[in-house]
Amino acid sequence: MKISNDILYVGVNDHDIDLFEGHYIVPEGMAYNSYVVKGEKTAVMDSVDAHFADEWIGKVKEAADAPDYLVIQHMEPDHSGSIMGFMEAFPYAKIVSSQKAFTMMANFFEGEDFADRRVVVKEGDTLDLGGRALSFITAPMVHWPEVIMTYDATDKVLFSADAFGRFGALDEIGETSEEDDDWACEARRYYFGIVGKYGPQVQAVLKKAAKLDIETICALHGPVLVSDLGYYLGLYDTWSKYESESKGVVIAYTSVYGNTKKAVELLAEKLEAKGVPEVEVTDLARDDIAEAVEDAFRYDTVVFATTTFNNGIFPFMREFIDSLVERNYQNKRLAFIENGSWAPQAAKVMKGMLEGCKNMTYCENDVKIVSALNDDSRAQLEALAEELAAAYK
Ligand code: FEO
Repeated sequence: MKISNDILYVGVNDHDIDLFEGHYIVPEGMAYNSYVVKGEKTAVMDSVDAHFADEWIGKVKEAADAPDYLVIQHMEPDHSGSIMGFMEAFPYAKIVSSQKAFTMMANFFEGEDFADRRVVVKEGDTLDLGGRALSFITAPMVHWPEVIMTYDATDKVLFSADAFGRFGALDEIGETSEEDDDWACEARRYYFGIVGKYGPQVQAVLKKAAKLDIETICALHGPVLVSDLGYYLGLYDTWSKYESESKGVVIAYTSVYGNTKKAVELLAEKLEAKGVPEVEVTDLARDDIAEAVEDAFRYDTVVFATTTFNNGIFPFMREFIDSLVERNYQNKRLAFIENGSWAPQAAKVMKGMLEGCKNMTYCENDVKIVSALNDDSRAQLEALAEELAAAYK
């Protein structure tokens, strides 16, 4: 793929990976993007996962006989894993990266930090390739501390490191955003899973990006973003400000014997009947928790429904709430359904876990189920449904 006459795609697709970053299911595979930028000198933007070193180096050789520089924007091994292979294949090339990244290289590569083959760059530095220059923007904690982004003013390209990435291999989802008809779904799951904790840092980078004339965004994952960049920048702005993107209710539940599930299904029916714009139901024991986390950030309201368990709450709900809290969960309306056969206390435990979260609105009508639904708990569900639906009228 050509990004421009002088910028070529040399990334690879991974269809073998089971869990990306040891954590996320990737049913469409994963891409580790890399680019060759040609002036009188040639720079390669980032390496790829170590399993693809030979394939990637072959692509680099086809695109550029003798690359002068390897720019390392991010040291997570999905990108840094083939640095050693590159430096052996191109023994005259230098690595361009941040000081923090060189420190990480020594840790990843048994002391090798390329002391004689390095160019350390910081905010605002440029690398003259002859006929074009790359300028560097620090992007700490998006999503590791050493991260830099790179701007090519000649072709108006921002190399954005992990930001604006998406799960999915490019031979499955398309090489550019014009071919990818569902970018937001997997970009949102990726964002909240991987970068969601670092909203303020993303905001800081967006402010720097706003000063640049950008026509193309080349991320390290996902398709090259080539048109309607305001859409992608706008979503990143919404997400990193922790604003809700969509109106609707997420009901996240666990159910041991199906009684809590019956309550959740009844609530969902009532909400739909009362005209709530979207109702998403997720079984935290069986569905992808990263998808549930994404939805909990996307929609403005979440109902948590679970059972009292070992004097606390059911484990999948605990993991879910922990995943939200550690990502700075805020600005939502919350409601709770608890079930317990002798001493229900799940609602109290869930609220306790969420109490440090900013700007939360708690519904008045929580629901208590004692073992199974009855007329009393059905009436409580009706009251909660009324309260939730009223906000959308
Ligand atoms: Fe794609 Fe943070 O690594």
